[in-house]
Amino acid sequence: MSSPTSPTASAESRRAARKAVIPVAGMGTRFLPATKAVPKELLPVVDRPALQYIVEEAARAGLAEVLMVTGRGKSAIEDFFDRQPELEALLEKKGDESRLAAVRESTGIAQVHFVRQGEARGLGHAVLQAASFVGEEPFAVLLGDDMIDVRDHLLEHMLTVQRAHGGSVIALLDVGRENIDKYGAVAVEPADDAAMDGDEVVRITGLVEKPPVDEAPSSLAIIGRYVLAPEVFGVLRETPPGRGDEIQLTDALATLVERGEPVHGVVFGGRRYDTGDRLDYLKAVVRLASERDDLGPPLRAWLREFVADLPAEGASPS
Ligand code: UTP
Repeated sequence: MSSPTSPTASAESRRAARKAVIPVAGMGTRFLPATKAVPKELLPVVDRPALQYIVEEAARAGLAEVLMVTGRGKSAIEDFFDRQPELEALLEKKGDESRLAAVRESTGIAQVHFVRQGEARGLGHAVLQAASFVGEEPFAVLLGDDMIDVRDHLLEHMLTVQRAHGGSVIALLDVGRENIDKYGAVAVEPADDAAMDGDEVVRITGLVEKPPVDEAPSSLAIIGRYVLAPEVFGVLRETPPGRGDEIQLTDALATLVERGEPVHGVVFGGRRYDTGDRLDYLKAVVRLASERDDLGPPLRAWLREFVADLPAEGASPS
C-alpha cells in the first residue's frame, strides 16, 4: 500500500488506535448567545446532542475509550454522559420504555473520561491535554461539533490508512478555493492506495492554517477527524501560538511533515455537518429529521408545502 517515495513509519506506529479524544472546550462564538449557557456540542440535532452522534461514531469504529477535553461552562457535558437515576426511576414508573432506553443508551455508548483545558488556547493545546490519557500509541481526534453521517465510514477508512502506513492521517474535504481561508489547507501528492467507498487517499506535503485564498496550496480543507501518532505531543509542546494567537494542531502537523514523518489524508466524499456553524446546523437538523421513520413523513409533507410557498429570491417573505 505504501508508495516507494513515501516516508516510512515503524511497525510500532502502525499499531491500531484504541482511544478517541474529543475536544469540546472551545467558546462557540458563532452560536452566541445560545452558547453563553449551553455548550454548542449539546445543541440537539433532532432529539440527540451533536456530541452523542460523535461518541457513537467513535464507538462504531472500535474506539471504546473516549476522553473529552472540556473547559469552563461545559459541565452539562459531564452530566449528559453520567447516569440519571432519578429520571430513569421516573420513566420506569411511568412504563415509558422507549424514552428509558434512549436515556440509558446515551450513558452506555463508551467509557467517557474528562480532562479540563484551563484556558481555551487552541485546538493544539486542547489535544495536548490528552497526552497522559493516550500514552505512546496512535489515537483518534474527533471534533465535538463536526458530524459525519452515520452511513459514511470516514473514521474507519482513516484507521485503515493509519494501520497501513503508520504516522498520522487527517480528514480532508474539497470546500472550493473560495472557502479555503476559513480552514486549515493542505498541499498533497497522490498516494497509490485504492479509494474506499468514494474516499480518496493522498499524501500530505504541507499544511497551513486559514491561508488567504490566493496563497492556499489547494482547495482541500482539514475537517474534524484525525488519527495521530503519539509523536504529535512532543511537537505540540514546542509549537508556539500561531494564527489567532492559538496553539494550532495544523502547525504541529506541518512540523511532522517537515521532519519526514508520514502524514496521509483521506479526502471525504460523503456527508458532513459542521454543527458549530448555524446554517450547517439547520441543514443537519432538517436532513436527519426528514430521513427518520417517526418524524420524516410529516416533516417531508410540510417541507414540500413550505418550499412551494417560498418567495422568489430577492422578494421578502410575507
Ligand atoms: P472551533 O474552531 O470550532 O472553535 O474549534 P470554537 O471556539 O469552539 O467555536 P467558534 O469558532 O468560536 O464558534 C474546533 C473544536 O476544537 C475545540 C472546540 O470545542 C471544537 O470542538 N477547541 C477549540 C477546544 O477544545 N479548545 C480550544 O482552545 C479551541
